[in-house]
Amino acid sequence: MEKRRSFIKDLLQSTEVDRDVNVKGWVRTKRGNKQVAFVAVNDGSTINNIQVVIDIANFDENIVKNITTGASVNVNGLLVKSVAQGQNVEIQAKEIEIYGTADPEKYPLQKKRHSLEYLREIAHLRFRTNTFGAVFRIRHAMAFAIHKYFNDKNFYYLHSPIITGSDAEGAGEMFRVSTLDIENPPKGEDGTINFTEDFFGKETNLTVSGQLEAELGATALSNVYTFGPTFRAENSNTPRHLAEFWMIEPEMAFYDIHDNMDLAEDMLKYLIKYALDNCMDDLKFLENRLLEEEKNKPQNEKSEMKLIEKLEFILKGNFERLTYTEAIKVLENSKPAKKGKFQFPVEWGIDLQSEHERYLVEKHYKKPVILVDYPKNIKAFYMKQNDDGKTVRAMDILFPGIGEIIGGSQREEDYDKLSTRIKEMNIPEKDMWWYLETRKFGTVPHSGYGLGFERLMLFVTGMSNIRDVIPFPRTPKNAEF
Ligand code: 4AD
Ligand code: MG
Repeated sequence: MEKRRSFIKDLLQSTEVDRDVNVKGWVRTKRGNKQVAFVAVNDGSTINNIQVVIDIANFDENIVKNITTGASVNVNGLLVKSVAQGQNVEIQAKEIEIYGTADPEKYPLQKKRHSLEYLREIAHLRFRTNTFGAVFRIRHAMAFAIHKYFNDKNFYYLHSPIITGSDAEGAGEMFRVSTLDIENPPKGEDGTINFTEDFFGKETNLTVSGQLEAELGATALSNVYTFGPTFRAENSNTPRHLAEFWMIEPEMAFYDIHDNMDLAEDMLKYLIKYALDNCMDDLKFLENRLLEEEKNKPQNEKSEMKLIEKLEFILKGNFERLTYTEAIKVLENSKPAKKGKFQFPVEWGIDLQSEHERYLVEKHYKKPVILVDYPKNIKAFYMKQNDDGKTVRAMDILFPGIGEIIGGSQREEDYDKLSTRIKEMNIPEKDMWWYLETRKFGTVPHSGYGLGFERLMLFVTGMSNIRDVIPFPRTPKNAEF
């Protein structure tokens, strides 16, 4: 069986027929009769299967019997034009080898549709479904497009550390990294744990953000971005939060908040266009999947736009830009506020809840919204302070169905203002000396933002739970696989 392996994606597009080919993959379905079997094989290169036609008389009985859903096969055969609908070509099998059988009695993936909840429990096998094949091919395409976007714009990919001694967001939601004996840690005279004996000689955690290190890079390389895993020990069991998620954090010297918003909007549109241009088969599948799912929903819960239409819609117009203060006025004058329908009451100074964000985006403006100038008390220490003494140059981008997809700001470049704010917020200055030094030597106005990669994936795929757009989700009480 020594023919070079072809990917099914390439064969399905091929016009060169009547030639010998080899495919390797997993059986999705088998049907037929006593004379002939039609086997759908998938190798992950595309959502589409190739049909392998088996003339049963020519094959060992055991081989044919063992070709069941989930089995892995190596097929040599003739690529021919197909008369069947929905496919241009098929393979007339000449030789078949089975790498691994999959006992139909025990194989957890049956032909029927499984619930996403069930598939999460078998995340080691869910890649083999159409849905997850589509999601993870798109995830790859989005990661690739992010690197392409920034590379083409003269940004450098900077690897920020995963283990850190500082809390970039100051929210105290960190996972400790330690090699101390937790049963019997070394203690000082006052009874507190002596971290000087720990691996790094100090307290360390998994990073919540690569921003602070990206800022250091931007003050020499001008434009940098990080793209890595970040960790948050917040106990948020929602369809939009993960304890381990991937974040893209560009940081740009000489950018003010407006340049920052322009870049973020342009990047999001680029990524969505990239998906439309490169992932159409998978998007169409996911769109149909959603339509199926919505059939059982009441009319008022059905989405107004289909998935692809929704993606195209984002490309058409500009995002709405307004201040936090203006947004609060809109919310205060809204129907749900007047009727007491918001779970969390609206007043200036609150951290906007998902219900507020979604009202602004989905009901009021009906398009993505960028809010700027948030109250300084609800934002991180590093944001540039406005002259009003109350607000900072923060920006959040809110998306339909998602809420916050991007959070960012112009950074405080003034040494005195920054160090005063660090003191006010009780952030240990000894952990921040290196960050402060960039404001002492050749400081520049600069800005940046963080895009939650899985939030982007939720939007692009139309999936509704963040656990379904990352291969192996980490959430409270869950780190299986
Ligand atoms: O708004 P956040 O916390 O901002 C930062 O971390 C800044 N350091 C970014 C920067 O300016 N460089 O997080 C940024 C984005 C959010 O808008 C959201 O999309 C995503 O990260 N995010 C999460 N995604 C999944 N699970 C979580 N627990 C998330 N927390 C934030
Ligand atoms: Mg945020």
